[in-house]
Amino acid sequence: MRWLSSFLAAVALAPAGVISTTLRFSCAQLAVDRLDPIVNPGQNPTPHLHQIVGGNAFNVTMDHEAHDQATTATCTSCQPMEDFSNYWTAVLFYKARNGTYKRVSTVGNGLGYTASNGGQTVYYLSNGKVIAFIPGFRMTVGNPSYKTQAEARKNPALQFTCLDSPMTRSGYRYDFPTTPCKGGIMVTVRFPTCWNGKHTDSPDHQSHVAYPVSRKCPSTHPVAIPEVFYETYWDTRPFNNKADWPADGSQPFVWSFGDNTGYGNHGDYVFGWKGDALQRAMNAKCNSDLINDKVNCPTLKLQSIADTNRCTVKRRVKEDLDSWLKALPGSDMRGDMR
Ligand SMILES: *[C@@H]1O[C@H](CO)[C@@H](O)[C@H](O)[C@H]1NC(C)=O
Ligand SMILES: *[C@@H]1O[C@H](CO)[C@@H](O)[C@H](O)[C@H]1NC(C)=O
Repeated sequence: MRWLSSFLAAVALAPAGVISTTLRFSCAQLAVDRLDPIVNPGQNPTPHLHQIVGGNAFNVTMDHEAHDQATTATCTSCQPMEDFSNYWTAVLFYKARNGTYKRVSTVGNGLGYTASNGGQTVYYLSNGKVIAFIPGFRMTVGNPSYKTQAEARKNPALQFTCLDSPMTRSGYRYDFPTTPCKGGIMVTVRFPTCWNGKHTDSPDHQSHVAYPVSRKCPSTHPVAIPEVFYETYWDTRPFNNKADWPADGSQPFVWSFGDNTGYGNHGDYVFGWKGDALQRAMNAKCNSDLINDKVNCPTLKLQSIADTNRCTVKRRVKEDLDSWLKALPGSDMRGDMR
């Protein structure tokens, strides 16, 4: 069945064997803003624009040592009402032949979540027992300075899919698709699944986690954690007229940090589940049912997609994001990036 094969493709990069938890849910767009409380805490504006989903405690700074700010949220744009985490990525722009840029919007996942006001589809996957994150935990994956496929491949699961339909789950690639995509572009971001068991963060926001080696967590990072994985559907459909694409045959999309290869794809995660809610969901081997678009997880309190659309955070950086822009927001700060 097609739904089954696409769902299995979606989890195909998880470790082999029986996948015990495939929690999948929708998160609407919380904000689009030039903030990054992990990489540039306290900085307003930051060098590049992000799209963010999750709890409304998202802010310029998100303290996690003195107190865990994420859990002070009063609403979340994700279906599990106890998930006040934040998940974010860079923003996609289309560059016209005359050199101006137009921001590309996110749309609800065509597999079940078209009612969502943009945002992301979030997964927590596991194969066997995992320890859910501890309060204050955060991490990033990928690197905006990567310029080559060899660099991008260091992270096996930061990929682009040129959607022919919402079902398309083939042709994963590490760079932007080179032809117009009828159903938009899906960007997937997966985080490593092993933790050093000690630190909620690290100076590069990455070295406290690691990938498994031969399907096992290495001795330096012995604790198996849930696999955080998210998909963003970029609505590139308004920009599919090949006659408007660059005359030199290249593709017209560019990340908000100036990357027109796609190799700089990266994602950020701030853990913010209330209490033991995520651990309960992982222990209960929760899963999600693509036929009924149903999250099968009685231990979690869920809200409707209409309710997820109601949780938003007002943009703090006042700037025009929606006209045809002469330059990418923050291009004057380039060189200042991680
Ligand atoms: C965000 O931080 C500012 C201070 O930088 C504060 O005034 C504001 O209330 C915070 N917003 C939220 C939603 O926490
Ligand atoms: C640049 O091109 C876009 C897309 O064709 C168009 O909408 C916009 O008006 C143009 N801007 C200028 C300054 O020519």
